[in-house]
Amino acid sequence: MSKRFGAVQALQGVDLALRPGEVVALVGDNGAGKSTLIKGIAGIHPFDEGETHFDGQAVAIHGPHDAAVLGIEIVYQDLALADNLDVVENMFLGRERTNRFGLLVEEDMEREAADTMTGLAVTTLSSVRQKVAGLSGGQRQTVAVGKAVMWNSKVVILDEPTAALGVAQTRQVLDLVARLGEQGLAVLLVSHNLHDVFEVADRIVVLRLGQLVGDLDASQVNQQQVVEAITAGTLTSVPDMALHATGPGLDSDDDDPGTSGEEHA
Ligand SMILES: Nc1ncnc2c1ncn2[C@@H]1O[C@H](COP(=O)(O)OP(=O)(O)OP(=O)(O)O)[C@@H](O)[C@H]1O
Ligand SMILES: [Mg+2]
Repeated sequence: MSKRFGAVQALQGVDLALRPGEVVALVGDNGAGKSTLIKGIAGIHPFDEGETHFDGQAVAIHGPHDAAVLGIEIVYQDLALADNLDVVENMFLGRERTNRFGLLVEEDMEREAADTMTGLAVTTLSSVRQKVAGLSGGQRQTVAVGKAVMWNSKVVILDEPTAALGVAQTRQVLDLVARLGEQGLAVLLVSHNLHDVFEVADRIVVLRLGQLVGDLDASQVNQQQVVEAITAGTLTSVPDMALHATGPGLDSDDDDPGTSGEEHA
């Protein structure tokens, strides 16, 4: 897959495979292209070039709906949950179940939400009728994951799911991620936290300057090797001038006002 935003080649010839039952971590420095890659897979910013195959079939993902139909679900970092609604209402938001008179079938939805949480061995929620506003960060993450897997999903993509969490909550979410893999889902986990990555990932995919510079078996590498790939992994093609302009220090911080001025011009 390749994707360009104006002068910036955000992804170049990235080849990624996700398999059932496997947790793949997607790592890379700021601006490496991780979000662009997952947004492409989910149809939010379709790729400019490339092919997507699902269950061996070539498929076209032009929008989030196409991805959802295939069973590809994303859990965003901001979670996109509605605070004023309870857990069941959040899990069915936009896909509410109604009977033939257009009335909500509350009991069915409640049972299905509760079954999903039980299936994921979630024990930290006292009731699926709790309002989301009163949940902890870890519980919210759990609801968002439950929402993603409830729709017969086959691929679940998580964007930095533990970034805002404390130690115990991180533990819960990592356990949940591992369980998704055990249940046969293909899981893609975007993370900056290599400790988390090594806890749950079977495979580690490294992006650097929009190119895939490592596809590593997590049991065969150590943190140091992954850091090396992130910071100095071998690029197969030379980034063009535009990419240099946004280049290392890619965290687009203000340490180089000259180039970042050009970059945003
Ligand atoms: N909507 C957009 N318009 C223009 N450029 C974009 C857009 N989205 C991403 N880019 C550029 O594409 C490159 C890759 O960005 P991306 O957000 O995918 O990086 P990332 O790996 O997710 O970084 P981070 O770890 O900071 O979230 C960056 O140079 C970024 O500036
Ligand atoms: Mg990102």
